[in-house]
Amino acid sequence: MTATARAGAPFLPAETDHDLAADVREALTRHPRQLPSRYLYDALGSALFDAICELPWYPITRAETRLLTAHAREIVSGRPAPARIVELGAGNGAKMAALLEAGRPVSRPAVHLVDVSPAALATAARSIAAVSAGPIHSHQTTYDAGLAEIGATRGDGRTLVLFLGSNLGNFDPDAARAFLRDMRSALTTGDRLLLGVDLVKPERDLLLAYDDPLGVTSAFNLNLLVRLNRDLAANFDLRGFVHRAFWNAAASRVEMHLVSTAEQHISITGASLALTLRPGESIWTESSYKYTRDGITTLLTGCGFGVRAQWIDGTSPFALTLAECG
Ligand code: AVI
Repeated sequence: MTATARAGAPFLPAETDHDLAADVREALTRHPRQLPSRYLYDALGSALFDAICELPWYPITRAETRLLTAHAREIVSGRPAPARIVELGAGNGAKMAALLEAGRPVSRPAVHLVDVSPAALATAARSIAAVSAGPIHSHQTTYDAGLAEIGATRGDGRTLVLFLGSNLGNFDPDAARAFLRDMRSALTTGDRLLLGVDLVKPERDLLLAYDDPLGVTSAFNLNLLVRLNRDLAANFDLRGFVHRAFWNAAASRVEMHLVSTAEQHISITGASLALTLRPGESIWTESSYKYTRDGITTLLTGCGFGVRAQWIDGTSPFALTLAECG
């Protein structure tokens, strides 16, 4: 988004993002105050997330890649083998590329990449072209709209959808069920879903993953305020906030918050919002739900999928589940 100064007005975004403004206004006026986690991923936020995936304390990406490469053949084969493989939230395409490289599907499936970031889609298309001879289609859109496009454009042959990286963990349980049901409706009997979801593990490990000693996750979280300062002409002073992550065992989720260290008066011009934060008051920015193996099976079964296989990483508890539309 570009920004220009307007005569007689404060420095305002030239094209205010109305979804962002409305979502921020709605979430920040809730009790407790919140910000939607999807807005963590501007260009800097996406780069910081890629850095998180490299951290020794954040095992999800490595665990999932180990499982993908170890079981690639079983995932991309089947009778019939998938004619197209769709990844929702493809990011830099590294996982799809690893799967195609290790699985070497004989059928040369069409690849569909769904992501909101044009930069990520361009990178993903390049890395997949290096390992796959099949056609590559990019869909620069949200998960929901991507699913609708996939449902509307099906041809002959089976579809395999990848939903990886424990992205499902960022949905609350009702939203996760609704999303999987929508996915089932967009697919047809015999189509498959490969779901990568992080499992419950010791609290100490979870806290290190979401509050790492290098401070990368803290920067990722605080960058949300940088984004609001830029895109909604807000005046958050980053020195007045600290990153906090904790394990909410009752809800089986890690929560990320930004905690105000003092009383602060905040104005968010682009969202027509002014608020006062008390010392210690927090803004809840993300939930990462952690599942059990049985919990994943129950969830998928309740949404119209049958579990065909489930693989667990031996180094860090993480589940890759291959399910089929019944
Ligand atoms: C993208 N998502 C699955 C990550 C997670 O683990 O919830 C985002 C993240 N938040 C903090 N670290 C990583």
